[in-house]
Amino acid sequence: MTAPNTPIRFAPGQEAAAAALATRLSTAGAPYQSSSAPLPETGWHLHLDARGIALRKAGEAKPFRLEAAPLKRPARELGIARACGAQPGVKLLDATAGWGADGLTLARLGCAATLVECSPRAFPLLEDLAQRSGLPARIHIGDARTHMADGFDVIYLDPMFEPHPKRALPGKALQVLRDIAGEAPAAPIDLLALARRHARSRVVLKRRARSRPLVAPNWQIKGRTVRFDVYLPT
Ligand SMILES: C[S@@+](CC[C@H](N)C(=O)[O-])C[C@H]1O[C@@H](n2cnc3c(N)ncnc32)[C@H](O)[C@@H]1O
Repeated sequence: MTAPNTPIRFAPGQEAAAAALATRLSTAGAPYQSSSAPLPETGWHLHLDARGIALRKAGEAKPFRLEAAPLKRPARELGIARACGAQPGVKLLDATAGWGADGLTLARLGCAATLVECSPRAFPLLEDLAQRSGLPARIHIGDARTHMADGFDVIYLDPMFEPHPKRALPGKALQVLRDIAGEAPAAPIDLLALARRHARSRVVLKRRARSRPLVAPNWQIKGRTVRFDVYLPT
């Protein structure tokens, strides 16, 4: 994924964490600087302080932070759990991890979950949330296609929905993700085809409830706003 280098700013006491993060992101040349330096005038930057990692957009007073609350959504868990056959021992790859609401929910339901996110802006917040959640999920940065052959039972895909002209804006977290994520490294249909070649048991693709399937699924789990299209391996 191509994303411009994102500056990292740190509060007092966080310099070592900022340096380590810059190394993990391999943001060669991405500046990291004390929060006493002037704020960047354009774009997004990452902000490290005692509360964790936030994203801040130039001109906006309040930084965006991920809260653990969206991970606890019992009513919405049923569909994703059934679609993925979630249970202890299931080895699952969430190939489009985003903010981790789906992947960490599946980890909480017992799956041995690996979450991959390609955006170097989204990844630090995801990693931070996963650490705070205490769930034993593995979190990687990069293109999930490079992990698909690693022997997963289930590969879960939630590529960004196309903007819908008549729909209200999505919630704040999804708006931020849309704003920062940039172009995905692979088209959803190619991700689906590759996932079906590698998953041992099934591939699950999340879609808007009323959108057409990308490819005819083997079965579907329908919810009020989203649908899970389930595919057997090819
Ligand atoms: C709609 S969001 C996923 C939201 C997520 N299910 C959640 O619960 O927060 C899609 C995410 O997939 C990421 N993505 C798209 N293609 C990817 C790929 N090939 N490898 C890794 N991440 C990818 C995007 O950067 C974006 O953050």
